[in-house]
Amino acid sequence: MTMHTDLIALIKSRRSVRSFQLDQPVSPKHVTQILEAGIWAPTGTNQQEIRFAVIQKYDLLEAFALYKHIKSPLVIVLFADMEAFYSSYPKSVRRQRHKRPLPHVDSGLAMMNMMLVAESLGLKSVPLNTSRFLFYETQKGSGLWKRLLKQFAIRTRTSCLGIRFFDHFVRQLDIDTNRFLPTGALAIGHSDTQPKTEGARYGGNPVQRSELEHYVLGRYA
Ligand SMILES: Cc1cc2nc3c(=O)[nH]c(=O)nc-3n(C[C@H](O)[C@H](O)[C@H](O)COP(=O)(O)O)c2cc1C
Repeated sequence: MTMHTDLIALIKSRRSVRSFQLDQPVSPKHVTQILEAGIWAPTGTNQQEIRFAVIQKYDLLEAFALYKHIKSPLVIVLFADMEAFYSSYPKSVRRQRHKRPLPHVDSGLAMMNMMLVAESLGLKSVPLNTSRFLFYETQKGSGLWKRLLKQFAIRTRTSCLGIRFFDHFVRQLDIDTNRFLPTGALAIGHSDTQPKTEGARYGGNPVQRSELEHYVLGRYA
């Protein structure tokens, strides 16, 4: 196989893994290689604003699991440094709404690079949404009650009754949530399980991809 087909095979075989061997840490060398893959991802207008919190400390991993319900020996939380992101823009450009999604796009590109390198090193990973506002523990409340609580939590920025603000976790890392916007996280580690693609479902949909043409809106040759 050429290098090229190796990469395609790696992309197709990568699956999100949510269960890890907790007694097998990720080596410092592998952590560095994964982070380097992240920083070499492209960034919109070359802002290079993506930052990482590398978490391997037991207490913090346990705290993270309260938010995402996934236990792994390594979590990398990605942030956009909003000062770096805007620093080279004049004030008139900073106000432009169309720039706002860029840190999220940049973060996604970094995460993909990182997951592929992790996979190539024999590690497994899952990308995680670190939506700034809240995560519920689903057993608490339902329907209208949950919606009211959600509004209350958003307005008052309170973690209450099973609703948690990711900001509160970030503050445990001594990271300034006014400057650094959490854009996602990766749980990474060794795993015995290779999740099946065929027949597997997540979020109500099959994990298996449909035929290519399903995704192609048009070909304009
Ligand atoms: C932006 C983004 C956020 C995600 N957030 C979560 C998450 O919070 N929890 C989770 O278990 N999986 C999460 N995933 C993983 C998806 O569920 C997974 O990619 C999808 O089911 C397809 O499976 P695959 O990654 O094995 O191809 C996320 C994926 C992406 C791209």
